[in-house]
Amino acid sequence: MSAVSKDDDPMTNSAKSADPGAESGGTGTLTEPREGESLLKVTGLKKHFPVTKGLFKRQVGAVLAVDGLDFDVRSGETLGVVGESGCGKSTMGRLITRLLEPTDGKIEFEGKDITHLGVSGMRPMRRDIQMIFQDPYSSLNPRHTVGAIVGAPFKLQGVHPEGGVKKEVQRLLEVVGLSPEHYNRYPHEFSGGQRQRIGIARALALNPKLVVADEPVSALDVSIQAQVVNLLDDLQDELGLTYVIIAHDLSVIRHVSDRIAVMYLGKLVELTDRQSLYETPMHPYTRALLSAVPVPDPRRKAAQGRERILLQGDVPSPMNPPSGCRFHTRCWKATEVCKVKEPPLIPLATGHQVACHHPENAPDQQPGDTKLLREAKAALDGAVKEQG
Ligand SMILES: Nc1ncnc2c1ncn2[C@@H]1O[C@H](COP(=O)(O)OP(=O)(O)OP(=O)(O)O)[C@@H](O)[C@H]1O
Ligand code: SF4
Ligand SMILES: [Mg+2]
Repeated sequence: MSAVSKDDDPMTNSAKSADPGAESGGTGTLTEPREGESLLKVTGLKKHFPVTKGLFKRQVGAVLAVDGLDFDVRSGETLGVVGESGCGKSTMGRLITRLLEPTDGKIEFEGKDITHLGVSGMRPMRRDIQMIFQDPYSSLNPRHTVGAIVGAPFKLQGVHPEGGVKKEVQRLLEVVGLSPEHYNRYPHEFSGGQRQRIGIARALALNPKLVVADEPVSALDVSIQAQVVNLLDDLQDELGLTYVIIAHDLSVIRHVSDRIAVMYLGKLVELTDRQSLYETPMHPYTRALLSAVPVPDPRRKAAQGRERILLQGDVPSPMNPPSGCRFHTRCWKATEVCKVKEPPLIPLATGHQVACHHPENAPDQQPGDTKLLREAKAALDGAVKEQG
């Protein structure tokens, strides 16, 4: 299924039987990428939302929600995307599923440029690229039956599965662990976890290749989260799906991801495989995020040498991001160069891309004889006091 085994994770499995449903399959018009090959490629992707003022809606600025992303998603993998609220994760998800028009950059799916495809151009692509939304309550129309909701993609795409839509929808309900008898029920009759299963069934209806899930479990109780995460895992194994999973919860990301992309203020700051990210994070922001994840066993905590790093201040406004490295206003390692020169996202180890002038877990990690910025020094002092 994936480049990195997820078997060492404590979360357990709940295998469901599934048939890929060839009759409802994808477009089949493009060359199928083999496992590990790039399915989706994003270059210089930007989304700037204009900020307008007055009666004539004069543009007075822009929210730089996504501001130059470069990454690829490999066939069969799960790319986890993590970062604080407002860093542009959902915007990125909506851009790559083409629910939003990019301001700049390029999106290629199976080698085909889909950046500016219109509604009709995207129609065949919609079968291959699907999205699962965060809120299972608002993402399902309360006036429609489960049968109508899960069957809608067939109608929209004019797909006629063998045996009829009803039979196919009932099969999908079973695949996601619901009952075929749920066909005539309404969303309000289901719990949050079951509703998310309905949303997953709808996303799988046309046997997509890429599924982008935006915070798929964050609206659910912790006990139900594990079930839905395991379901996504099982479906990936059985159907050969490729996932981009967006979450702010690092333990969910750790469980599901093969590779992880860390975002900060519209930019990628680190991209690597799961093991490298958790064991040898190189970006100070990643280190700070990881240090905030509780470690249940105190002996493990000591062994990992993980002291808590408290980030000072809020995330700056994406309307007016800081110069140079956008993290410099909160980074305890910031130097003058960080303030004026934006660090590019470059490979600093095999398969490990980082955007930092003074990366962690690297020979040149120390700021050396360069002077720490005054604000950053104050932030460090504050963090030390908090810990003391
Ligand atoms: N349609 C829009 N118009 C203007 N600004 C927007 C729009 N959508 C998002 N933004 C802004 O873009 C930035 C990124 O938003 P986004 O929803 O992508 O962040 P996020 O990382 O998904 O956050 P969260 O973790 O809270 O879901 C935010 O500052 C947000 O206010
Ligand atoms: S050390 Fe400098 S470049 Fe690296 S994250 Fe901190 S401020 Fe940014
Ligand atoms: Mg979001």
